[in-house]
Amino acid sequence: MKKYLFIFAISLVVSNALASSDQGGSLGNFITLNKKEAQFTFRTDRGIARVWVYSPTMMRITIGNKAFKAFDPYAVVAKPQKTNIRFENAESEFVIKTDSLMLRISKFPLRFTFETPDGQVINSDDRLGTFWDSEKVYAFKHLFPDEKFIGLGEKTGSLNRRGSAYIHWNTDNPHYRNWDDPLYSSIPFYIGLHNGLQYGIFLDNTTKTHFNFGAGNNRFSFFSAEGSQLDYYFIYHRNVEDIVKEYAGLTGKMPLPPRWGLGFQQCRWSYTPDKEVMEVATTFRDKKIPLDVLYLDIAYMDHYKVFTWNPKTFSNPKQLIGKLKTMGIHTMVIIDPGIKVEKGYQVYDEGVKNNYFIKYPDGSDYTGQVWPGWCHFPDFTKPAVRTWWGKQFSEMVNMGITGFWNDMNEIATWGKEVPPIVRLNVEGNETSYARFKNVYGMEMARATYEGTKKLMKGRRPLILTRSGFAGLQRYSAIWTGDNQATDNHMLLGIRLVNSFGLSGVPFAGYDVGGFGGDATPALYARWISLGTFSPFFRVHSAIGTRRSEPWSYGENTEKIAKHFIRLRYNLLPYIYSVFYEATQTGMPVQRSLALHYAHDSRTFYAAYENQYLLGPSFLIAPSKSTQKAVKVFLPKGDWYSFFSGKKYQGNSEVLVGCPLNEPAVFVKGGAIIPIQKQMQNSAENSGDTLEIHLYKGSSDNTFIYYEDNGTNYDYQKGVFYKRSVSYYPKENKIIFYPPEGSYITKFKMVRLQLHGFDELVNKVKVNGKKVAVIPEKRSYLAPYQKMEEKIQTVNFSISNKKIVLIW
Ligand code: GLC
Repeated sequence: MKKYLFIFAISLVVSNALASSDQGGSLGNFITLNKKEAQFTFRTDRGIARVWVYSPTMMRITIGNKAFKAFDPYAVVAKPQKTNIRFENAESEFVIKTDSLMLRISKFPLRFTFETPDGQVINSDDRLGTFWDSEKVYAFKHLFPDEKFIGLGEKTGSLNRRGSAYIHWNTDNPHYRNWDDPLYSSIPFYIGLHNGLQYGIFLDNTTKTHFNFGAGNNRFSFFSAEGSQLDYYFIYHRNVEDIVKEYAGLTGKMPLPPRWGLGFQQCRWSYTPDKEVMEVATTFRDKKIPLDVLYLDIAYMDHYKVFTWNPKTFSNPKQLIGKLKTMGIHTMVIIDPGIKVEKGYQVYDEGVKNNYFIKYPDGSDYTGQVWPGWCHFPDFTKPAVRTWWGKQFSEMVNMGITGFWNDMNEIATWGKEVPPIVRLNVEGNETSYARFKNVYGMEMARATYEGTKKLMKGRRPLILTRSGFAGLQRYSAIWTGDNQATDNHMLLGIRLVNSFGLSGVPFAGYDVGGFGGDATPALYARWISLGTFSPFFRVHSAIGTRRSEPWSYGENTEKIAKHFIRLRYNLLPYIYSVFYEATQTGMPVQRSLALHYAHDSRTFYAAYENQYLLGPSFLIAPSKSTQKAVKVFLPKGDWYSFFSGKKYQGNSEVLVGCPLNEPAVFVKGGAIIPIQKQMQNSAENSGDTLEIHLYKGSSDNTFIYYEDNGTNYDYQKGVFYKRSVSYYPKENKIIFYPPEGSYITKFKMVRLQLHGFDELVNKVKVNGKKVAVIPEKRSYLAPYQKMEEKIQTVNFSISNKKIVLIW
């Protein structure tokens, strides 16, 4: 007891010293504990802390200086799971244990240390712990010498964020460069890596938050928020993948986008008038360059008034949309949040009458300037506004429009600043804009998604947003805003999309070809070839720049662009299956190597940090348009060049050629890749034969092939065709397990193509029957692959029975 009192007294002195050294102070010493099921609430002499066990691998920590009062209703959707918890109350510490994670909480002062069940420190508070200063609250975390940091959503810079600091404050940053911050969206989730361990921290806070990963000091990493309360989720798993999956479960997984949204998309600020839109569409079809989506940027509107049409240049939008539709082209329209102040304009009148616009504290509507001139802005944090907004799309939906693009929703205004004191409704809890600015864009995308989904009566809309917050994947795809036509921007965009993937957002992309400035033909060609292997594949360019359709850069570039856009369509069965996986597990579509190889330091080398996997099977090593060769890090395992078939041993660094028509793309040994025939849009008849490409490997592998009608939500009621295809190299066997779901596949035949196998001729049996093995070159991939590659083919018909191939 004496010892206890002594420690208490000493630590009081320390904590008071911290408190009195300036206006701030740390969390202080333990006084009381209140324990209720999975929640442990500690009072200290300076504040209050609650630990809430959400799962065996996730704990929620809430810390406030008096009582908990913050309210953040937007990001988190998961509920705590029933978890087996052990609790110990020792003299100087508490211990909260699950089967997978242990949290030690020292009492004097109250500080947190997360450990593995066998006692390795994963993450621990710095001596300062949680700290209040002025109007801010900080969490200081011990910085391990080898610690690296990844994630944090749309952040520029390197894959490893060590030594950098970032701010979350959604910003229209039209000329951003390699290190600029902040950009358009905020995802306060990052992953720390050290000593072979990894953890994730999601700070559920919409204010202007700061993250510092050892920038300017060598003692701690920290994050901070405005106000007095921190609410964060700590996730621990034995690998990065499972952390990303648990985070995706916490903030919600993406619903399946329409399959056409994975096709090629062409945009320009702006195609106008309607005749020009048709010219672009017709040129795609004439030149046999596939296309699924054409965009209408702001020029289609009457004086930039949303939900109107320019009567001169788009006099019959319904006819235009209908024509495009008959050509197999979806129309996507831009819709910004600024509502022009103009009496008699219905959207404006209704908004004013019903108090739907953001207001000053004195109750008058806030007015800011953007494309239409002076505007009011709908308050998307008010449920009635979201419903009203959703209904505005009915005319567009009736015309046949299926895609909606939300831009300028940071909120962007001329002059940049929306006064921080304007009010937001926040689900009935009125608060300042400054507190919830970071969710404005996401709530706009949500209103657009929910409204159009309802109006489209069961069909899937495609939503694209520029701004967002943690959880945006539940409603929308996102793109990286106004990039520039340079090699560095191309590579930066790839890192941004990799980072989105690590941060719960699988459906992301960049403006292929560059938005600002003029691309060179080589840059355009390279960018298109990389876009083929990205989740969201759209060309876009700004007004006043060089035209950026695939034929705008001369014959040679057109040939390359066409080649790669076509390849995208061959790959759709694979890409769609990977998207399906994302909806189920939260695994990204574009996967930074750090997702699988976080503890191999080569992953972070400047030469390799842009590399990623598309789904489980492709490895892409991006290079500049000026590069003739690129150094590639191949992780352990066998790898094959996708284009030449050449085999490489993994766990190596290799130099490979990367001419514009052959970027560095590899396939993993053991990969199972479904491929379809070439088509002009994703809804075209895909024929009756599905190719499955199998690359010889040395460990077992399963690919889940997924198919559904691609357009509606029946898949949620089991109308899908999902089939595990497994390869067992040691047994020389591949099994197509019986499919699940009630959808009937479009395909009747499989053409199994074997890569990297030499010795198969006439040895293969399908369900016990000997079948011919043909050393044939016929393949949907023939235009892309070199003739010297030896491919062997086995044809068989698809049935719902288990199909076993053995050799
Ligand atoms: C913004 C968008 C850009 C769009 C332009 C005009 O700059 O980021 O994509 O083309 O506004 O609407």
